[in-house]
Amino acid sequence: MNPILVTGSSGRIGRAVVQELQARGHTVRGFDRVESPGVSEMLVGTLTSVVDVARSMIGIHTVIHLAATPDDADFLAEIVPNNIVGVYHIFEEAQKAGVKRLIVASSGQVVWHQRMTGPLPIGVDTQPTPRYWYAAGKLFLEGAGRAFAEKFGMEVIAVRLGWCPRTPEQVEEIGAEQWAQDVYLSPGDAGRFFACAAEATLEQKFNVVYATSKPRRAMYDLETTRRLLGFEPAEAWPQGVDLVMSSGDR
Ligand SMILES: NC(=O)c1ccc[n+]([C@@H]2O[C@H](COP(=O)([O-])OP(=O)(O)OC[C@H]3O[C@@H](n4cnc5c(N)ncnc54)[C@H](O)[C@@H]3O)[C@@H](O)[C@H]2O)c1
Repeated sequence: MNPILVTGSSGRIGRAVVQELQARGHTVRGFDRVESPGVSEMLVGTLTSVVDVARSMIGIHTVIHLAATPDDADFLAEIVPNNIVGVYHIFEEAQKAGVKRLIVASSGQVVWHQRMTGPLPIGVDTQPTPRYWYAAGKLFLEGAGRAFAEKFGMEVIAVRLGWCPRTPEQVEEIGAEQWAQDVYLSPGDAGRFFACAAEATLEQKFNVVYATSKPRRAMYDLETTRRLLGFEPAEAWPQGVDLVMSSGDR
């Protein structure tokens, strides 16, 4: 069986994805700037190197692309190399290597302003209202996905992820805001979401979906995610935060 390539395999979500995929019997190839513990096949490299990215794609049918600068940061020094140039290399090298399915991490920050104005839940066809440059970069990633699905017939799933906290400070921020709890994504649900996305039989080539844990009030359209991918969240805020508090994340 071909391994599934997980970029960003050392990160908050990447570790959860690797764990879930391996538990389901998939072979995983990790790719990150730093070694990912527990991944048998690991490539340490950077998204900004076409050579590294091309090497990571050899023999791969499904890519889960998580590696990125995961929030707003200096545009020229961080967002451009990691989230723009990196996305360019991932799509180009995946296509050249014959990859069939790309599952790419977008963000709920692309529909940031509808959180306040509604209507809720925010649909997958709503005109985006990006928060800032990080979110604008995620729209570049979604646009690249659409282009590659149309031009090359690749299967692409762009997932607008809810908030999977990386630090105890972020757990505190989520605890203080109802809307943040409604977009909370536990590490366990994140792992299960990406496994479902890798395993689903798709009706269409290009898919935009949202992923969160079970909200009290749905901010995002989770029905489309259920229908297209069969993903059903198993947890709700604050289930899973113990993992964040104990893992000494950045
Ligand atoms: N955690 C969230 O709440 C959240 C929400 C929406 C979207 N996302 C997206 O999900 C993905 C994963 O986020 P996360 O929270 O796990 O972030 P993270 O920072 O924990 O993990 C990102 C990983 O990518 C790696 N990386 C960064 N730049 C790289 C490069 N140039 N080459 C190789 N590896 C590189 C880092 O070393 C890190 O291990 C990102 O694309 C992020 O934008 C996350």
